[in-house]
Amino acid sequence: MKLKACFLLLVITLSLLAVDEGVLHAQEIERVTGLILADGWQDVQANCTECHSTQLIVQNSGSKAVWESRIRWMQATQGMHELEAELEESILDYLATNYGQKDSSRRAPLAQHLLPANPYESDIP
Ligand code: HEC
Repeated sequence: MKLKACFLLLVITLSLLAVDEGVLHAQEIERVTGLILADGWQDVQANCTECHSTQLIVQNSGSKAVWESRIRWMQATQGMHELEAELEESILDYLATNYGQKDSSRRAPLAQHLLPANPYESDIP
């Protein structure tokens, strides 16, 4: 009986530690905008929420070049204001760091020998 109680206590302690670990490493999210709290989030809030919600931002991802191309597109077609170089750099760094390029979710293509025979092969000139 004592052993059982000890074991139970151990399991509870380990679970609590695991939960604590999860909480410590979770990214902190700003309550109103939903932006990850990290250097530069206020620049994004101040410059990127005039026309649309931050939801459009946090559901996207990309490298610095991808984020830059989005800003250029909004400037060229949506009347977005120019950003001073330093400010733009801060925004791009924030976006690329916190909403960076995701690994591709597509699986690698199958090897040729694993593919079914192509019934039209003989038709290819
Ligand atoms: C002058 C208005 C304006 C400002 C300021 C603005 N955007 Fe946009 N943005 C738009 C419009 C319009 C769209 C297209 C919305 C849609 O598709 O419904 C858009 C779309 C987007 C998208 C989605 C692009 C896609 O491929 O689907 C992202 C991401 C984005 N904006 C990020 C930002 C960021 C980051 C900033 C600040 C640096 C910003 N926006 C500032 C007008 C703006």
